[in-house]
Amino acid sequence: METLFFLLTTLLLISSSVKSKPDAASDHDLVRSSCVHASYPSLCFRTLSSYSGPADTPRDLAQAAVKVSLSRARKVSTFLTTRVTGKSQRERVALSDCVEQISDSVEELSKTLRELKHLRGETFGFQMSNAQTWVSAALTNEDTCLDGFEGVDGKVKSDVKKKMTNVAKVTSNALYMINRLNESRR
Ligand SMILES: *[C@@H]1O[C@H](CO)[C@@H](O)[C@H](O)[C@H]1NC(C)=O
Repeated sequence: METLFFLLTTLLLISSSVKSKPDAASDHDLVRSSCVHASYPSLCFRTLSSYSGPADTPRDLAQAAVKVSLSRARKVSTFLTTRVTGKSQRERVALSDCVEQISDSVEELSKTLRELKHLRGETFGFQMSNAQTWVSAALTNEDTCLDGFEGVDGKVKSDVKKKMTNVAKVTSNALYMINRLNESRR
């Protein structure tokens, strides 16, 4: 067991020294300094430092944060449509509202990602304002999903709450990264 651990550690060390780009340390610093004042700093750091794409600029980070949020929103959407069934009529109604809301969030986050991928100097301010509007709307949807479960306690509600809270946290961080990107332009 110890030998295996040693081997794995050695392999990890070797592979990380082989893979690391010259600017890997500064990437890490950018993630760290960008996440410090995010709404959920450690979640921000965890999700963005394990992100496999580029993370060299505030724009990269905003895109990465939106991608994380989009991918989690999609997962929650699938989870809600395939894995959860309401037992009472109230639960079923609340659940189907949540499915609709999370699917709106997915749509809004996709639009945001498209916008961030096509940023242009002349339209930067307008595009940032779009991105901010859409991500805020996605966040609102995630928050209001749970309102439908008011007064209905039980496993369905607690499952939905756990998933929605998590996706709302990464979405909130994405909004913060968009604001940072906007400010980095000044
Ligand atoms: C972006 O920054 C500009 C200049 O500071 C500010 O006026 C504008 O409201 C910001 N836009 C967004 C969407 O935050």
